[in-house]
Amino acid sequence: MAGSYAMTKIALIGCTGSIGRQVLDVVRHNRERFRITALACRSNRQALDALAAEFQPKICYCAADGGSMSESSLQDFFAECDVAFIAAGGAEGLKYTLAAIGAGKKVALANKESLVVGGKLVTEAAEKKGVEIVPVDSEHSAIFQALGCRRDAPFERLVLTASGGPFLHHTREQLARVTAAEALAHPTWNMGPKVTVDSATLLNKGYEVIEAHWLYGADYSRIQAVVHPESIVHSLVYFRDGAALAQLGYPDMRVPIQLALTYPDRLPCAPMLDLTELKALHFERLPAERFPCYGLALQAGKRGGNAPAVLNGAAEEAVRAFLQGGIPFLRIAETIEEALTSVPQAEAETYADLAEADRQGREAARKYIYGK
Ligand SMILES: NC(=O)c1ccc[n+]([C@@H]2O[C@H](COP(=O)([O-])OP(=O)(O)OC[C@H]3O[C@@H](n4cnc5c(N)ncnc54)[C@H](OP(=O)(O)O)[C@@H]3O)[C@@H](O)[C@H]2O)c1
Repeated sequence: MAGSYAMTKIALIGCTGSIGRQVLDVVRHNRERFRITALACRSNRQALDALAAEFQPKICYCAADGGSMSESSLQDFFAECDVAFIAAGGAEGLKYTLAAIGAGKKVALANKESLVVGGKLVTEAAEKKGVEIVPVDSEHSAIFQALGCRRDAPFERLVLTASGGPFLHHTREQLARVTAAEALAHPTWNMGPKVTVDSATLLNKGYEVIEAHWLYGADYSRIQAVVHPESIVHSLVYFRDGAALAQLGYPDMRVPIQLALTYPDRLPCAPMLDLTELKALHFERLPAERFPCYGLALQAGKRGGNAPAVLNGAAEEAVRAFLQGGIPFLRIAETIEEALTSVPQAEAETYADLAEADRQGREAARKYIYGK
C-alpha cells in the first residue's frame, strides 16, 4: 500500500537534542509520510534556525528568547499537528505534554520526566480527553510492541532490560572516583548528558519502572529490571501461561521513534539483527545495592504525591553539579536522598503542586551541595 498513507504532521519539542535530531532524521528519510509543523528548543538558536530552514515549520520557538510559552502560544504550537513529539529534556517537558493533551493531540512521549513527575496527572488527563500516549523510550516501546502495539492488553509481568551503564562492575571505591567524562561514555547508547549520567547511576532504570507503572497500569510488584549489557533485547512481557515476548534489535532510537509515528505500520528504518554475529546475550541481576539511585526512584514512585517531583528536581540539580565538577559521583544519590528526607511528604494533585515540589527538591539539593 506504499503511497496511500496520509501525511502525519508533527510538532516537535526538543528538536536540537539527541532524540529530537533523530526524529528529524526519520522525517528526512520519509518526506512523503511526515511534515514538521512546529519546532522548539531551549537555547540553541543557531541550530534551530538551521533546522527551520531545512524543515520549514510554521512555528519556531526558542525558550531562552521568549521565556515560558503562554497557554495560548502553546495552543498555537500544537494547533496544526497530528502528533506532538515531546523530546525536551527535564521536568519542563511535563508542561508541554499536558498542553499537547489539552489540545487533544496524540503524544509521542520521549520525555521521561512527564510520567515520572506527573504520571497521575498525565494519564488521567489523557484518558479524559481520549488522547493516545505512545511511548518512545526503547524499553517501553518494546513492551508496547510485545503487547501488539497496545497499552491495555493483559499481561502478567514486565521486565525492563538495563545496559548497566559504564560502571556496572565498579566497586564503591571505584565509583567514588569516576569523572563526568567517564560517566558520559555510555557503552551502548548515544544520548543527551542528563539521561547518560542517569544511566550510569541507574536512576534512569528507576525512572523507567515508574514510567512503566503509569503507561501500563502495572503495580510495582509486577515490574522488574534486569541487566543486559548488550542492549539487544529491549524489554520483555510475561503472560499468564508462562510465555514471554521480547523485542530485539541493535540499539537505535530511530526504531521506537519511527514506530511511535507509524504504528501499526512499519517502514524501513534500521539494519536487521544478525543473530550469528551476536554470539551471546547476557543477563544478570541489577546491582541495586551499589547504585542507590535505583532504589530511591522506586521509593519515590511508590510513595507518590510530591515525592517523584522532589526526586527529579533534586536529581536535575545534582547531575548538573556533577557534570560541572562540583560534586563526586556518589554525592548524586546522597543529594537525592537528602531531598527526599528533608522535604515533607505531601499530596500533589495539580501542576502547581508538582511545580512547587520540584522547586522544593531543587532547593533542598542546592542546600546540601552548596550549603545555601
Ligand atoms: N537520548 C536518548 O536516547 C533517550 C532515550 C530515551 C528517553 N530519552 C528522554 O528524552 C528526553 C530528551 O533526551 P535527550 O537525550 O534528547 O536530551 P538532550 O540531548 O539534552 O536534548 C534536550 C532537548 O530538549 C530541549 N529543551 C530543554 N528544555 C527545554 C524547554 N524548556 N523548552 C523547549 N525545549 C527544551 C533542548 O534544547 P537546547 O538544545 O536548546 O538545549 C534539546 O533540544 C529526556 O527526557 C530523556 O530522558 C532520551
